[in-house]
Amino acid sequence: MGIYEAILKRRSIREFKNKAVPYSVLEKCVAAARVAPSAANRQVLEYIVVDGEALLPRMFDAVSIWGGVVRPQEGWPDGRRPRAYVVVLINKVLETELKGDSRNTGYDVGFAVENMTLVAEELGLGSCGITSFNRGKVAELFQIPDKYEPGIMLALGYPDESPVLETMTGGSTKRWLDDKGQRHVPKRELKDILHKNRFP
Ligand SMILES: Cc1cc2nc3c(=O)[nH]c(=O)nc-3n(C[C@H](O)[C@H](O)[C@H](O)COP(=O)(O)O)c2cc1C
Repeated sequence: MGIYEAILKRRSIREFKNKAVPYSVLEKCVAAARVAPSAANRQVLEYIVVDGEALLPRMFDAVSIWGGVVRPQEGWPDGRRPRAYVVVLINKVLETELKGDSRNTGYDVGFAVENMTLVAEELGLGSCGITSFNRGKVAELFQIPDKYEPGIMLALGYPDESPVLETMTGGSTKRWLDDKGQRHVPKRELKDILHKNRFP
């Protein structure tokens, strides 16, 4: 699969098959994050891969928005939940020591997570980035020292839904479900966001 094809094909996936993800696949995602661009090559990020059966329900329990406006998290069946997570940790001490523009950490996280999502896509996995989660619960679960801040987590598993990418109409970016339960994800048109040699 070419990179552009993977980029177009990737949608956030929240319904998964009841099938475990091989650890080697998860490790490859983090290996891709490891070599992502990093402002001044600071590399303040670390990763916790979570695939232990006993940990998965506790991770899902920490998610506060799952699907947002699209579907409620309550009652999400066990067999359709993510089968793995990668928690991205920001080393706040290292970040401070290395100074620089603190906004760069957010960009670092973005580059790293996108690398993971694209490798996941290539290997047949679905993924969903989650920032609406209870960081205290996750920190407690892994006894994460204070100097690390859980930034985002990526939920992973074999996809059991096929959300549709569509062009935004009527000015709304709201995702919606059709009567077959298929999720539609409107994206702004290229002509509305691309400004050639002038702005707007
Ligand atoms: C920074 C960031 C945070 C997100 N947090 C959540 C989240 O907490 N819960 C969730 O269900 N989806 C989350 N998402 C997924 C978005 O809802 C999703 O990317 C968006 O609806 C567009 O869909 P697409 O990824 O299929 O293009 C997040 C995405 C990003 C980039």
